[in-house]
Amino acid sequence: MRVAVGCDHGGLALKDVLCGVLKSAGVEVLDMGTGNEDSVDYPDFAAKVARSVTSGDADRGLAICGTGIGMSIALNKYPGVRAALCHDSFTARLSRQHNDANILVLGGRVLGQEVAADMVKQWLATPFEGGRHQKRLDKITQIERDICKG
Ligand code: RB5
Repeated sequence: MRVAVGCDHGGLALKDVLCGVLKSAGVEVLDMGTGNEDSVDYPDFAAKVARSVTSGDADRGLAICGTGIGMSIALNKYPGVRAALCHDSFTARLSRQHNDANILVLGGRVLGQEVAADMVKQWLATPFEGGRHQKRLDKITQIERDICKG
């Protein structure tokens, strides 16, 4: 599996930890930055992660800012992105089982490293359940199509 990872300055420390977690799990990491603590704008990095996932360059994405809120707002503007801002392992797991989330969003100033590492491991390992949940995702896709038609 290939995962695109992006963050702003508020997510940098956690991104570095989680890139290690992903690599240890045998995941190929596409690091989209940022790479230092200079203040940057999270939409720029959301765009890189979203485009990697929607183009198929990456199978999934991981995005981190201070709270995760800005990243999730920006990411979910992209048709085909299902970005889930999660706060614990339960929501990370359910975002896969019920929502087929293709991007996990975390708050670098919210989560401890061990909690975040466990969330990422569970998010990677949990399959989408399909069934009644697929019907709901189809409705989201239809909303995207309606909006794109203008
Ligand atoms: C940056 O200071 C901060 O606003 C950003 O990381 C994020 O929390 C926005 O939602």
